[in-house]
Amino acid sequence: MHLEHFNQYRHLTDFDLTYIKEKRIFFDPPDTEVGSWVGHDLLKWQKGPSNIIDLGSGSGATAASFVRQGAAMSIGVDISQDSLAWSRTQYEGSEYKNKIKFISYDFLQSSPKDLESCLTKKEFPKIITSNPPYVPMELEDEQQFISVYGGGDGLRYFYPTLDHALYFKADMGITLGSYSSLKTVFSLLESSGYKVISMTLCVLPFSQPTLDHFSRIQTLIERGEALIWKGESNDAGYIIVGIASVYTGSKNKGQTESLFRILEKACHSRTSALEELSGKSVAGFEDGVLRVLELPRPGKRRHW
Ligand SMILES: C[S@@+](CC[C@H](N)C(=O)[O-])C[C@H]1O[C@@H](n2cnc3c(N)ncnc32)[C@H](O)[C@@H]1O
Repeated sequence: MHLEHFNQYRHLTDFDLTYIKEKRIFFDPPDTEVGSWVGHDLLKWQKGPSNIIDLGSGSGATAASFVRQGAAMSIGVDISQDSLAWSRTQYEGSEYKNKIKFISYDFLQSSPKDLESCLTKKEFPKIITSNPPYVPMELEDEQQFISVYGGGDGLRYFYPTLDHALYFKADMGITLGSYSSLKTVFSLLESSGYKVISMTLCVLPFSQPTLDHFSRIQTLIERGEALIWKGESNDAGYIIVGIASVYTGSKNKGQTESLFRILEKACHSRTSALEELSGKSVAGFEDGVLRVLELPRPGKRRHW
């Protein structure tokens, strides 16, 4: 197992790190940077420049980072018209010309066939990524917190991401929280023929919507499905988990237990350096990359 540490942004630019004032555009740079690392690992895995589709592309910063990392074509899709307008203005032009585009698409309500009909054959993806809304909450109005609400198990958007990836037989990247039901995620990836090649981890404090609706996470913790991080001096939060997986078409037995064990160790660490992971190789993930990010957090977080 190869363990890496980074304490600076490698993928987001100074421009991406400038606080976005528009109300309905997601801004939480460490989260976005984790998703960019996931795409980085999957692009590196390909034999040549490949197309990548980012489901729930938000500000477009991740999709833009994929172009800088050598994607042949990077397509972001989002349901938010404000986000689409912003990302088109910022990134469809200049250095990204003809290599990036943003499409209005609801990946929760649509089938992969609908996405296919929005693409030319030349645009079919080799990689599908998503850093979707992933906070487990109980809400009466599901239109509230549309950028973070991940359903009762935090996986409301994971399932359609997997459906889309399987439809295109694409490699798949997903970014979730340690309090989402990750055992289910690892197990579904395993049974669907996906081998995890890397995990990128970054501790983050709970956001206000999460704290205001914590009872669901509490239930998942009691059931052994959710993990949170409790550091020294009353620090508490969760770990953003970026998972890069490649389609092998066959079961990767034992993967689920190994990966969950890694997250348990990470969550038992006293500091955000996740020191419990150092010097320990985990059986079943010997050839995988484990990356820990400790990043500055510029500006206020914007969730909506
Ligand atoms: C957590 S934000 C992440 C944004 C971006 N991926 C990033 O990492 O910065 C989730 C994004 O998913 C979008 N979204 C929510 N529901 C969606 C849906 N049904 N279809 C497409 N996008 C959706 C939101 O508008 C938001 O931009």
